[in-house]
Amino acid sequence: MGGPVLAVLGGGQLGRMLGLAALPLGARCRFLDPAPDAGAGAVGELVVGALDDPGALDRVAEGADAVTFEWEGVPADAARRLAARLPVFPGPEALAASQDRQAEKAAFARLGIPTAHFAAVDSRVGLARAVDEVGLPALLKTRRGGYDGKGQHRIDGADDGALDGAWGALGGVPLILERVVPFTRELSVLAVRDRARATRCWPLVENEHRDGILRTSRAPAPGVTPELQGRAERYATRLLDEWGYVGVLAVELFDVDGELLANEVAPRVHNSGHWTIEGATTSQFENHVRAVLGWPLGATDAVGVSAMVNCIGALPEPGAVLAVPGAHLHVYGKAPRPDRKVGHITVTASSPDVLQDRLAQLSAHI
Ligand SMILES: Nc1ncnc2c1ncn2[C@@H]1O[C@H](COP(=O)(O)OP(=O)(O)OP(=O)(O)O)[C@@H](O)[C@H]1O
Ligand SMILES: [Mg+2]
Repeated sequence: MGGPVLAVLGGGQLGRMLGLAALPLGARCRFLDPAPDAGAGAVGELVVGALDDPGALDRVAEGADAVTFEWEGVPADAARRLAARLPVFPGPEALAASQDRQAEKAAFARLGIPTAHFAAVDSRVGLARAVDEVGLPALLKTRRGGYDGKGQHRIDGADDGALDGAWGALGGVPLILERVVPFTRELSVLAVRDRARATRCWPLVENEHRDGILRTSRAPAPGVTPELQGRAERYATRLLDEWGYVGVLAVELFDVDGELLANEVAPRVHNSGHWTIEGATTSQFENHVRAVLGWPLGATDAVGVSAMVNCIGALPEPGAVLAVPGAHLHVYGKAPRPDRKVGHITVTASSPDVLQDRLAQLSAHI
């Protein structure tokens, strides 16, 4: 079987959707994941092994044309090791920076991308100092390893009790304190750059989180001026430039009455871009595959309007979802567990009114 082989570090739902996008292009993905039942195994070859196991890394990269990753927890050293002999996109530097909230925010600051006030915290004394510097209310976060709002503790008061509580909850690992942003809404911008440096961005997306977990995305985000879209694209482009980036990159943003503050960056395809599978001319997954394999990008404009709803903890009954016009169901092949993303539904429509009506039907059914 000819066609390029893309080695993918990680084999979760993002890998699965990359694999599905690669197939019609005549490309194949080969995944590395520690779980023998990883969801991406249904759409490509699965190498079962740890992401820091040199032998497993060699096996997944054997004969591959390029390497990418679908999880930003991949050890940067694993990416560096493979980068010595194969194209690894995005590069290990982007991966390393995005794994550390302090390094990430420092990169934003260096590139003139506004953020919430922040300060590194490494001790209980340092926490009191950071609270003075950053102001309250604030969120204490672990610098590494957080996802879906895990590893975060909100601080409302500067008294010893509040600080002891926060330090007791998270202290002992490198931390960052961030001022709570009184945002009007959350947005994200997805950008993609190919190996010839052509760059495209999808329309801004509006995201609703509950308990730190993304619940729904709406695309295009309503009420976005060309100026706001342009500003978000400039921020994303500065990061692409900074890291010599190839592939899809997502920047999570807080919209504070039209001012944009960057929250975090994901050096990979992103949950807030799942709507692009049905809602854009080219999906984030297809464009990521095109970019890293050295092919030209497809157009990123929206087709009508869409909303993506995550299925968290359990899957709905497929027939009920599919009875709603414009609804598309994506099941990830993961065992259901509380707070775990096990699938998503994208509803597409020709106008916001029709979309609203279809979402109402969906919520009545599931
Ligand atoms: N400084 C802040 N001010 C206000 N809200 C915040 C702030 N930081 C985080 N949040 C809220 O918590 C959510 C999750 O935070 P963040 O994106 O930092 O964590 P995460 O665990 O890395 O999330 P994920 O990886 O799932 O995007 C944000 O989308 C936002 O709703
Ligand atoms: Mg986030």
